[in-house]
Amino acid sequence: MTVERNPAPVAPSPVCAGTPHHGGATDGKLILALPKGRILKSAKPLLARAGIVPSSDCLDESSRRLRFDTNNPDLDVVRVRSFDVATFVAQGGAQLGICGADVMMEFDYPELYAPLDLGIGGCRVSVASPDGDDDAHDWSRHSCIRVATKYPNITRRHFAERGINADIVHLHGAMELAPMLGLSRLIVDLVDTGSTLRANGLHEVETIMQITSRLVVNRTALKTRPKEIAALIARFRDALLPVAA
Ligand code: PRP
Repeated sequence: MTVERNPAPVAPSPVCAGTPHHGGATDGKLILALPKGRILKSAKPLLARAGIVPSSDCLDESSRRLRFDTNNPDLDVVRVRSFDVATFVAQGGAQLGICGADVMMEFDYPELYAPLDLGIGGCRVSVASPDGDDDAHDWSRHSCIRVATKYPNITRRHFAERGINADIVHLHGAMELAPMLGLSRLIVDLVDTGSTLRANGLHEVETIMQITSRLVVNRTALKTRPKEIAALIARFRDALLPVAA
């Protein structure tokens, strides 16, 4: 009989293969990371005003392609999850990105520089509780409370400021199910129209932060390719100016 043994644990190497080179695309193109979903739609007219026109299937979310060329031969865009834009830019895979202030605050990457508030993707991060649970937001009654969220850091910090230990249930979507299925007492989630909360028997009890999307830039790339990146920032800045009547 063959007895399978667990392989001996491998000591982590001090130098990790595939360490980010902060150089972005191997063909030398600049990469702009765009978030999928609702922000992508509102980014389209802003990109057009900035003179950046991605190939047409970039905005077609049924397309499985992730990298697209633009009308600028030196610039490609990639389409990633909104939560991953900050990581792609901070790790140097993309030099620029459009990123929600919520995502920036959650990860707090020192490598990210956010020169412009783009004024799109406005919504908020809020605490919500089930309809009828009137005690849930009487903070003085709790020293510890279980909260489901995709924002563990923002949530921990928010409750810690109130002297409450947030016991985090880390989910990546469908947070609204957590209270009704007994995973948590509260949720912390993005709220825009409020219809998702209402449809799932929840209501907002506190707004943690109002958010919009920012243009984010990798600080190392800004030093190594200053002219190209400054030119792109300037295009976005011009695109935000009011259009003359
Ligand atoms: C967000 C959020 C809520 C919903 C709120 O999800 O997590 O589910 O939007 O919007 P509303 O207030 O207009 O109903 P999103 O659609 O961004 O997808 P996600 O679940 O992948 O985060």
